[in-house]
Amino acid sequence: MNKPVIGILVYRNGLTFSEPTYFRDLTRAGERLGATAFLFSPQDIDVNSRTVTGFTPTSGNGWIRRTYSWPEVVIDRHRRSGQEYMKIRTSSLFLYANNRFTNKWNITRMFLQEDRLKQWMPETVEYSREQLRTMLKRHRLLYVKPGNGTGGSSIVRVQSADDGYTVLGRSRKLSKRRVKIKTLSGLANWLDHWTVDERIRGGNFMIQQGLDLELVPERVTDTRLLIQKNESGEWKVTGMGMRVGAPHSSTSNLHGGGKAVSFQEIADKQFGAEKAETIRQECEQLAFQVVQVIEERFGPMMEFGIDIGIDVEGRVWLIEVNPKPGRDIFKGMGNPSLYSKSVERPIQYAMYVAANKNRSNTNEGAMLLSKRRKRRRLQA
Ligand SMILES: Nc1ncnc2c1ncn2[C@@H]1O[C@H](COP(=O)(O)OP(=O)(O)O)[C@@H](O)[C@H]1O
Ligand SMILES: [Mg+2]
Repeated sequence: MNKPVIGILVYRNGLTFSEPTYFRDLTRAGERLGATAFLFSPQDIDVNSRTVTGFTPTSGNGWIRRTYSWPEVVIDRHRRSGQEYMKIRTSSLFLYANNRFTNKWNITRMFLQEDRLKQWMPETVEYSREQLRTMLKRHRLLYVKPGNGTGGSSIVRVQSADDGYTVLGRSRKLSKRRVKIKTLSGLANWLDHWTVDERIRGGNFMIQQGLDLELVPERVTDTRLLIQKNESGEWKVTGMGMRVGAPHSSTSNLHGGGKAVSFQEIADKQFGAEKAETIRQECEQLAFQVVQVIEERFGPMMEFGIDIGIDVEGRVWLIEVNPKPGRDIFKGMGNPSLYSKSVERPIQYAMYVAANKNRSNTNEGAMLLSKRRKRRRLQA
């Protein structure tokens, strides 16, 4: 039997890849699992000869460049926007393991309307001075976040007190800002500036009910759950971990100085083993609902990293869903086997998609086919 050919669409600049360690691990997992897996970028596609220039790691730190036949299935791991990428991604050139997704604001709005998810959604509105006033009356803690941000960038936490507001921000470049502002109009002026200066690609901001996530004193502590499709195309929760934010940080993101800790370690201490287990199950239930809702709207997906807030009372909240999630949390927790599993699953699922792609009698096959037909053809 021929090896399935899996292309991994990524960003590269010369031989500098956006996530070199993960990409090495992913292509090596492909090899180990019996696939031909390689990295490629939009500039590596030759539509006329139906070949792709692909990259695999050497045993050292380098990369080997080779010409490959057209990939049977493509994993999209391109994390940058850009015309060239969008042109490829919106064409019907490839069959993708993961469909296209949308930004945080759009998905948050969709989830807020969704009966199956409402219970887990923090109150969220689009940023404006009026909405700020309204939200401040309802919540003592607010988060103001870009509707299209990642990695903790451009996020502000606003804490109300009797003598004014404490504002703790993280700029687009992740540098910290902390100010005290006495009046509401002063706060609104400050945020008006922030939502212009720190916006991302001209996007909007949202105001969200702030959750009390201080499971560790003075630290924002939240949960990251990784849900992935397995070798049979079924959703499985691969694992969960907690991220403890740096001191005086409004976010817990690992890139912003957060530390990875196992879920049990913190949850058992805070809630006791029994309640911690109930909470863990609720997180899983939330994750399965999330992927179901998303797939109904966007078609078949491959994996999501779900940011979950567990507040000091043990209530579970959905903070964010990441369609191209990192796996560093498992490394940080010192759980190499969980990390390996999280790297293998995308390959296993892509192999499953390749093996089943001509079968339109399954729901998933039918969805994939109709989605592909609908797509615009790429102008050669
Ligand atoms: N409503 C909120 N209440 C409390 N903490 C929040 C809230 N929203 C975000 N955070 C904190 O900020 C982090 C980053 O927010 P998130 O929405 O995941 O944005 P990003 O896409 O930048 O990761 C979260 O992981 C959490 O630690
Ligand atoms: Mg996040």
